[in-house]
Amino acid sequence: MLKQKLIFSKSILIFLLLFFTPGLTGCTTFNGNENLYSQGMVVSADSLATEVGIKILRSGGNAIDAAVGVGFALSVTYPVAGNLGGGGFMVIKKANGEEFTLDYREKAPKLAKRDMYLNSEGNFVDSLAQEGILASGVPGSVSGMLYALANHGTMSREDVIMPSVELAKKGFYLSEATANSFNRYRSSFIKFPSTTKYFTKDSALFAPGDIFVQSDLANTLGRIIENGTDGFYRGKTAELIVAQSQKMDGIISFDDLMKYNTVVREVVTGNYRGFKILSMPPPSSGGIALIELLNILENIDLKSLGHNSTKYVHYLTEAMRRVYADRSKYLGDPDFYPVPIDSLISKNYAKKLYSQITSSASNSADILPGLVESSESMETTHYSIIDKWGNAVSVTTTINSGYGSKVVVDGAGFFLNNEMDDFSAKPGVPNQFGLLGSEANSIEPGKRMLSSMTPTIVLKDDKPVLIVGSPGGSTIITAVLQVVLNVLDFEMDVNEAVDAPRIHHQWYPEHISIEDGVLDSSGTLELINMGHKVKDIPYLGLIEAIKIDQKTGRVSGATDRRGFGLAKGELDK
Ligand code: GLY
Repeated sequence: MLKQKLIFSKSILIFLLLFFTPGLTGCTTFNGNENLYSQGMVVSADSLATEVGIKILRSGGNAIDAAVGVGFALSVTYPVAGNLGGGGFMVIKKANGEEFTLDYREKAPKLAKRDMYLNSEGNFVDSLAQEGILASGVPGSVSGMLYALANHGTMSREDVIMPSVELAKKGFYLSEATANSFNRYRSSFIKFPSTTKYFTKDSALFAPGDIFVQSDLANTLGRIIENGTDGFYRGKTAELIVAQSQKMDGIISFDDLMKYNTVVREVVTGNYRGFKILSMPPPSSGGIALIELLNILENIDLKSLGHNSTKYVHYLTEAMRRVYADRSKYLGDPDFYPVPIDSLISKNYAKKLYSQITSSASNSADILPGLVESSESMETTHYSIIDKWGNAVSVTTTINSGYGSKVVVDGAGFFLNNEMDDFSAKPGVPNQFGLLGSEANSIEPGKRMLSSMTPTIVLKDDKPVLIVGSPGGSTIITAVLQVVLNVLDFEMDVNEAVDAPRIHHQWYPEHISIEDGVLDSSGTLELINMGHKVKDIPYLGLIEAIKIDQKTGRVSGATDRRGFGLAKGELDK
């Protein structure tokens, strides 16, 4: 039913795109399965952004140029998660062998305080950390994307950002998904006059096919083209951000904006059954958790258990339970806290954790003390790109919840993030993803909040074979894990690997979240008899992935059936 709905929506979207989108034409495909490409591929959660990336590749740009173009385009066409007012991580494997990451995660403003979200009784006030200006960290996306372009791209700012200016200035046709999304969030948007101005209609709801124009955002993008990072972190855009902050008793200052810096960090690497895993180090927990999970699971012949069998789900769950317990204790911004990376990703440590797993469910309380339950959010967005030279880029970017803090910067036209909720505001009290934290992730001025984003590139013989990532808060790591296992252990093609139903466990809450189709009722009963608690969940993650066949050089891409994205490739010339 969900699939049918998605197909219907996608047909409307493709019709609108092919016939009505100004300046964008071309043959689109949602899945690369039947069309294998070698001249490059872009997969993102939004078809217009994918088209921008493909146009950049077509005009001779490399994967980094395309990644920056897609990032800016998502800020226009996919404002639920694409952003100028948030942050992100970029993992890059260049064809010349270089591999590194860019950390442009948001930072706590310098007036941020350890207890800023606690009331006079010392209780966590989640609304303060999750909605409104106080929830916003200092944005990093513009800095990170411009750093990537200046140091690893080949094109000018104008070349890669102008398509986004055009989309903002001339407008684009709202898809059914985006119109519905704006309408669904209306009650939050109307709490803030600036957001009401840009993202609600006076007398009616948005409808698919409405042309959505964002003139102020186009001007902001124009200032970034003209002045680079100064077009955002200084001058008029900075004045608008600080004015918005001051109007709402926020704490983001000119100094915070001027001092924002992107950090180049070494990839965190692992080896799994002869493949090399490149992923994001802290302040993301994603790379470490992914590698720790793979190290534990390498001790088991997963294939012989059968994909999504009861035993397979049991072993994945037990590995996840242990890794998320470690996440809560040891992970935070490495510039503020000594994260024991080498110990966490060592094969010996994984063996020790594996040896604790028995044929029945463990109690999370026996692994480390903890509490809680909370709701999930599936926001954030990922895109994967490869070019014809073999440069591979994996980017996950976020404003945290859908539409972040829900506050748009008046006059600048973009949402500010609510990333401060990714800090552990009070040890032992969960954030919106139900995640627990400790001192490692406490709030400090200038610190980057812990993330679960897991942009990943898998290599064989030092060449990319899989580029993958997902949104989904705490569920990002386990969604990425299962796609990696589907490709490496179960040799699925990329569509099958992305579309296969998934599970998730994060230590607390105690239950396994299970998508429809993982197990039948007898399999689920078996799992319950082993001592597991299970809970149905409509969907886990929203993967955008590219698989590269190193033998033929052919590339196939898949956008998740759970969303409305577009995988598009360039055929051999
Ligand atoms: N805001 C979601 C994450 O960074 O994990």
